[in-house]
Amino acid sequence: MKNHLIHKVEQWEIYDRMSGHGIYADSDKEFLPAERYDWTLLTEIELFKNAVRGCKRVLDIGCGTGHPSLHLTKDVGSIVGIDKSERMIEIAKNKLSRSRADNISFEGGDAGNLRFHEGSFDAIILCGSLATFSDKERALREIKRVLKTNGKVTCIEANWLYRSTHERHFQGEGNFVLTQKDSIRYRYVRRSIYPHKETDYRCIISPKSVLGKKLLSNSQFRKHKTLTTEMSIEEVEPFCDEIEYDEQEQFDPQTIASLFAENGFKDIYVSGYGIMYDLLNSAGLVGGMASHMKELCKAETGISRFLDPTKTEMLFLTCKFNSTISNEKNQEFQEL
Ligand SMILES: C[S@@+](CC[C@H](N)C(=O)[O-])C[C@H]1O[C@@H](n2cnc3c(N)ncnc32)[C@H](O)[C@@H]1O
Repeated sequence: MKNHLIHKVEQWEIYDRMSGHGIYADSDKEFLPAERYDWTLLTEIELFKNAVRGCKRVLDIGCGTGHPSLHLTKDVGSIVGIDKSERMIEIAKNKLSRSRADNISFEGGDAGNLRFHEGSFDAIILCGSLATFSDKERALREIKRVLKTNGKVTCIEANWLYRSTHERHFQGEGNFVLTQKDSIRYRYVRRSIYPHKETDYRCIISPKSVLGKKLLSNSQFRKHKTLTTEMSIEEVEPFCDEIEYDEQEQFDPQTIASLFAENGFKDIYVSGYGIMYDLLNSAGLVGGMASHMKELCKAETGISRFLDPTKTEMLFLTCKFNSTISNEKNQEFQEL
């Protein structure tokens, strides 16, 4: 591909453009049944509550529009939520202005360059954000720096090994979309299993190009405004002016645990969750059980440590960082 045609966009920029979008933000409910989000969201709140209850100072990095922090204010001393997307922060602040909490604040900030002093926090929350950080090692270094000795990290990520991911087409999948202004957009998602990575390409096809003309003369395309295609980004590239892409690394229980272990964290524990809604749905019981949602999500939190995380859709990792041990280790290494 011609390099001048293609430019990379960071994940936070994507969230900034579609502010409000994010895992379980309101606008996501347009894409999946709202109640599915509600079940998962409640389970996550319970998981984080259990993990950070009693902590004095908590930092939520990549807080988006405020999930789950806005729900944890009664369980901790205080919380600061930071996000690189100013527009996500704006929405979080709006939500906050409608709540009564006075021990939580939101501000713009970069995971890789935190403004806080050493040892400022008892716990750090990463809810779906770690996968979106462009420099994860740097973010983990910053997390270690601002954590108190024996401070806790709690992290949620989707499990790349979950069956729905495996059912996907790994070579890549593309589609053309005809917009209202007769412009043709093309999107292509390329996935690799090892390392778990998704690259998402987007471009506009010139309507005067050979491909553009062919698509516009296709009656099915004109009628349905969308067309799935086997054409890869390399094949489509000659017909577009500029290509934009973003990359996202993904995790499974092993890779997420290794990332924390390699960066000096201890007591790493990965559990799984995200089964309650699917169980009830397959039994046709979602509607009937709606009034018991809170209790059932609490129950899911309780059993999550007994679930095999390789088989659940979502992963919940907890770990600690002991700066004293690490400093001693560093010294040992330096003396050798
Ligand atoms: C998947 S969303 C999760 C948002 C929220 N925690 C939730 O669960 O709804 C990931 C968030 O991480 C933020 N983010 C990505 N890179 C970041 C960085 N380097 N520093 C701070 N935030 C970042 C994005 O802007 C986005 O709001």
